[in-house]
This record gives sequence, structure tokens and C-alpha cells, in this order.
Amino acid sequence: MAAPEADRGISPEALSEYCMDARLSGQGGKNMKKAVYPGSFDPVTYGHLDIIKRAAEIFDVLIVSVLNNKDKTPLFSVEERVKILKEATRDIPNVEVDSFSGLLINYASEKKLHIAVRGLRAITDFEYELQLAQMNRRLSNGSLDTMFLTTGLEYAYLSSSSVKEIAYFGGDISQCVPDFVAELIHEKYKPNQTG
Ligand code: PNS
Repeated sequence: MAAPEADRGISPEALSEYCMDARLSGQGGKNMKKAVYPGSFDPVTYGHLDIIKRAAEIFDVLIVSVLNNKDKTPLFSVEERVKILKEATRDIPNVEVDSFSGLLINYASEKKLHIAVRGLRAITDFEYELQLAQMNRRLSNGSLDTMFLTTGLEYAYLSSSSVKEIAYFGGDISQCVPDFVAELIHEKYKPNQTG
């Protein structure tokens, strides 16, 4: 909400509403629109970052949360992924980075979050994402809804697994991830490639 200007003759009611909004926003009040963007982010790609930037323009606070999935062997540990995401989003002030284990609905309930953001690249994502969104809504008794943003066309081809495969074979991933992430990925694969 834009600050009221005294010379426009703002009414006491409007001024009071403005002050209330400003106070609530400043203190993380219940009027703040918050959302969680959950994912594996192993590693974060330009496609993820595009979704993060756009979602951060829609919500007052966007919590990007890394799934700690004990069943998978990731390239980066959860701690590394959190650190990478913090660095990659350092210029977006309303983005927080966190991690979670177990069900997303439980994490969302603990954090009092009611919207999950997910990116849709193509029809191939749709079936899985629809199932996930419907399952989460059902399991949370309607408390957790999902909002989809379509991935920018320039990133439609991107996935964390293809980035890893290209890097594994020594290919160029500079168009897929920020430079510092590309370096970290190549570092991980170096021992395999020099042997
Ligand atoms: O980046 P990803 O791997 O596509 O993200 C998938 C993620 C983390 C959103 C999803 O696997 C998830 O929420 N996992 C947590 C467990 C859960 O809540 N599953 C939903 C019940 S089917």
C-alpha cells in the first residue's frame, strides 16, 4: 500500500488503515501473504530462480524450503543446498531459505503456511504436480493449496538432473545455473573425472 500523502486530504479512517497495514507488515502480522516453494533444488537452476523471483513479487514472504529426503543420495547435502540457495537469492530481500523433512503439509502447518508454489515446465510435469497438489490439499483438509507458475519458456528444458548429467560428462552448464553453482557442481564431479 502506497503511503498516503497529507496534501491529498486523507481521511482519518484511511490513515488508520494504512498505519495498521504498515504495522502488520513490519512485524510479520497475519495480513502478510506468505508462501512456501518446496523442492529438492539439487542443484538450484535458472528455472527455479525464475520461479523464485516471480513468486517473491506476488507474496510478501517466500520461504524456499529444501526437502531433506533420506531415501535419495543427492549431489549436495541439505546444508549445501540451503547455503547455495541463500547465496543465489541474496538480492531478493523477501526470500527466506529453510529445509524440511517428512510431509510438506506438516511443515506448512507448523509454519502456518497455506500456499505452496510450484513451477510447471510442460505437460509432462502436470500429472505429477496435479496429484501432489490434490494430495496435499486433501491431507491438509484444505489448509494447503498449491499455486502454479509456468516456467519461462527459456527455461522449459531445464532440470536439475539434466544439469548434473551434462556436468558429469564435462559439458557446459553455464546457461543452466549461476556461475558459482556451476563451479560447485564441477568440483563435485572432478574426482570422478580425473581417475
Ligand atoms: O524438486 P522436487 O523433487 O520436484 O520437489 C518435490 C517435493 C519436495 C515438492 C515433494 O516431493 C514433497 O513435497 N515431498 C515431501 C513429502 C510429501 O509431502 N509428499 C506428498 C505426499 S504424496
